[in-house]
Amino acid sequence: MHRDATGKYAASIAGGETVRAFVPDPLPPVPALDLGGARQAVLEKATLALGRLDSIALLLPDPQLFLYAYVRREAVLSSQIEGTQSSLSDLLLFELDELPGVPFDDVVEVSNYVAALEHGMARLREGFPLCNRLLREMHMHLMSRGRGSDKAPGEFRRSQNWIGGTRPGNARFVPPPPQEVEACMTALERFIHGNADHASGKAGNTMPVLLKAALAHVQFETIHPFLDGNGRLGRLLIALLLHDGGVLQQPLLYLSLYFKQHRALYYELLDRVRTHGDWEAWVDFFLEGVEQTALGAVQTARRLVDLFQTDTRRVQGVGRSSANVLRVLDTLRQRPLCSLSQIGKSAGITFPTASKAMLTLAEMGIARELTGQRRNRVFVYDAYLNILNEGGEAL
Ligand SMILES: Nc1ncnc2c1ncn2[C@@H]1O[C@H](COP(=O)(O)OP(=O)(O)OP(=O)(O)O)[C@@H](O)[C@H]1O
Ligand SMILES: [Mg+2]
Repeated sequence: MHRDATGKYAASIAGGETVRAFVPDPLPPVPALDLGGARQAVLEKATLALGRLDSIALLLPDPQLFLYAYVRREAVLSSQIEGTQSSLSDLLLFELDELPGVPFDDVVEVSNYVAALEHGMARLREGFPLCNRLLREMHMHLMSRGRGSDKAPGEFRRSQNWIGGTRPGNARFVPPPPQEVEACMTALERFIHGNADHASGKAGNTMPVLLKAALAHVQFETIHPFLDGNGRLGRLLIALLLHDGGVLQQPLLYLSLYFKQHRALYYELLDRVRTHGDWEAWVDFFLEGVEQTALGAVQTARRLVDLFQTDTRRVQGVGRSSANVLRVLDTLRQRPLCSLSQIGKSAGITFPTASKAMLTLAEMGIARELTGQRRNRVFVYDAYLNILNEGGEAL
């Protein structure tokens, strides 16, 4: 549908240059989203796929385990869009207090992402609304350590920013002037809460959560309220909105890989919403990504369950010592990268018993020592990380 530009331009000063900054109209789109024909079918397919993901997450023997692994996979992928070189095993090593072989700032950035998501989830569980204050709190965590710490963590920006280009004058896009950010974000917050008081009516109330997430993500990126981290926070916003809106009991849908794989198109569609009001093309792209990603996550969950069953059966076959080996395997299922002393502690067995059991797992090709150290040896459950990594290069 053709709507022309979906906002106004305001003169603003950036880096000593006067630029045309874009101030988006509040959501929802006017005229309303065209949900006719094929689009309705795409929405239903995406909704169905999400429903499957939601139910499989509940059917898993240990849903928390899947969440733990999947959140970390997402943190790595989402941070890679920004250019961070850290891998999933780097993050897990870092969480073990072991220094991985990548720049500190990179792995800290990934770890911050996990912290931001966990903070958001914890606040929602307390009954705190998904509001601008929560987004600022999450931004604080996202930027708290490493490279972002000088980028006004937890605060909306007070200066003009721009996207693409070497200077403001040749930017691909100039987001709203700083003095407009607060008002734009308040309008977005109102839309998220479903009481959009826009002239076109109260579409926010009745709009399916998936569409709301699709629109809110673009609006957030267009406002670009923070000095940095807008992409990561905007991606987290999608996961939290779907959870908060009741379509996913756990925050398990992450479009980072999809956006990364289609980056040029993703940016182009963001542009086209602004310049041509083409919300429909964006919504189609978004829903396609939701379906693909949700089905992919269901596959991943299934394959992890299969792996655990196969490996458990193999260990049961080793005979007398299998009880301790099973305990150690169980610990590795919860933490696919773990030091021997931690394994002993969580499995409730002595260090020598843990070492011996781990050796059996290593001989069976299930576990592998990672560091080559004699002390503080760290073992990794390779097949587990490989499944998480598939398609994402997160290892
Ligand atoms: N042309 C555009 N119009 C609107 N938003 C855009 C455009 N190009 C990129 N963006 C958004 O800006 C984000 C990058 O902004 P920023 O650097 O603040 O976030 P980040 O989290 O540090 O980076 P990244 O998303 O690359 O990981 C992109 O992820 C995208 O969502
Ligand atoms: Mg950035």
